[in-house]
Amino acid sequence: MTTIPAGGRAASAPLMGTEAEPTIFELSVPGRRSFQFRTTEIPEWSATELFDPALLATEPVPLAEVSERDLVGHVTRLSHRQFSVDLGAYPLGSCTMKYNPKICDAIAAMPGLAQVHPGAPASLSQGWLELLVDLERALCEVTGMAAATLQPAAGAAGELTGLLLMRAYHEARGDTRRRIIIPDSAHGTNPASVTLGGYEVTTVPSDARGCVDMDALRSVLDTDVAGIMLTNPNTLGLFEEDIAEIAQAVHEVGGLLYYDGANLNAILGVVRPGDMGFDVVHMNLHKTFATPHGGGGPGAGPVAVSSKLVDFLPGPRAQLVDGAYDWVTPPASIGRVHGWHGNALVLARALAYIELHGSDGLRRVAERAVLNANWLRVRLSGTYDVAFDRPCMHEVVLSLTALRKEHGIKAIDVAKRLMEEGFHAPTVYFPLIVDEAIMIEPTETESLQTLEALATALIDIAAEATTDPDALHAAPRTTPVRRVDEARAARQLVQTFDAR
Ligand SMILES: Cc1ncc(COP(=O)(O)O)c(C=O)c1O
Repeated sequence: MTTIPAGGRAASAPLMGTEAEPTIFELSVPGRRSFQFRTTEIPEWSATELFDPALLATEPVPLAEVSERDLVGHVTRLSHRQFSVDLGAYPLGSCTMKYNPKICDAIAAMPGLAQVHPGAPASLSQGWLELLVDLERALCEVTGMAAATLQPAAGAAGELTGLLLMRAYHEARGDTRRRIIIPDSAHGTNPASVTLGGYEVTTVPSDARGCVDMDALRSVLDTDVAGIMLTNPNTLGLFEEDIAEIAQAVHEVGGLLYYDGANLNAILGVVRPGDMGFDVVHMNLHKTFATPHGGGGPGAGPVAVSSKLVDFLPGPRAQLVDGAYDWVTPPASIGRVHGWHGNALVLARALAYIELHGSDGLRRVAERAVLNANWLRVRLSGTYDVAFDRPCMHEVVLSLTALRKEHGIKAIDVAKRLMEEGFHAPTVYFPLIVDEAIMIEPTETESLQTLEALATALIDIAAEATTDPDALHAAPRTTPVRRVDEARAARQLVQTFDAR
């Protein structure tokens, strides 16, 4: 470990660009303290009087010893080396990284919400319970469902919860089924959740229009099928036009329809999964209903269900009972899927976002998200190949096969080069069924000027692929971290601060 002397460069120089920032341990100076309270009038005590000596640590905890000033400088400099939704466009397809209105944060930070202990009894947290009941009602209205659990911590946790609900439903009917159908365009969490939920995956291919191939679907449907998992619009950004037919065919064999709500941003206030025939829906509140995410959360993945699945929902749920709010566990509940009541402050932000928009506002969110994606689709076609060249929903998928064949430029080269232009990289190599895929989701929060700047950057990069391909291979050259070896990062995970 290198110790930078007091008053060294790290304490004074504002760091930007590609310069390295030392770790907090490298800034450590023995004996240096952040802030100390005066201890007058506090009685002397010894740790051994209060705790069993056998439980006390014998060595000091190895923490960095820094002043408050050094600490704040360090984290502020680090924050300047990040890209975020607050800084610029973040067109990460499927992830819906939109700008989150600050008023939702301000509401979630109100002491009456933020400072309530989750273990407080219902009688002392009536306001919180009312908020949860209101949110559940709003989410059911948006999705066309009967009731919801707010517990799951994210989309994938919602998927597992939904599958356990489907399982409980079938088992309660004495119906043992083994298979869940998933289209080949599905997000990776879908098959993973199916396996965790104790089912086997049956994959159906997409047709030439990028939707579920109906003949292939019919050929795998029988009474062993517990259900189908779909996202609509699907991960190609295309609306599954045969959804009513799909719902009928799956229901006819006694299966259930699961809606992966990661793409709900595209249909808010326009069409509801319940009306399309779905029985279970998870929502990613951190995508659709404005909570900052990325970097691992926090998120929230409530699961809403049709009336036939309500009795199986995780408990307890906040409900109005005889004029007061209380916690109620459904009669055939699958049990808890989260400690306490879910990621509560994400839930508060979501309700704030819904109430602030109202139903008209939510519809406008979807309309603008779809308009922005189609504007980019049209602006970029001619320069890039659009994977399925027809009107898309909230995201557009490009294929860079031609650039790779003609100039040796891959999707990842274009994505990395875009970072030098001040944009976050879009999603690459997903969905898996598109070769050299770049998936762009501009979201409704970006202006026409930003869309134009993004399109211009992508068009200029395509031109550069023919004149200076090495620039693309070397990109990003202006960011704090240059091109990383992505395979090594996955294969050789080093989790210590002094990784080399
Ligand atoms: C289509 C789809 N389904 C499910 C998920 C999983 O959601 P989460 O990241 O909240 O677990 C994602 C995440 O990007 C997604 O895009």
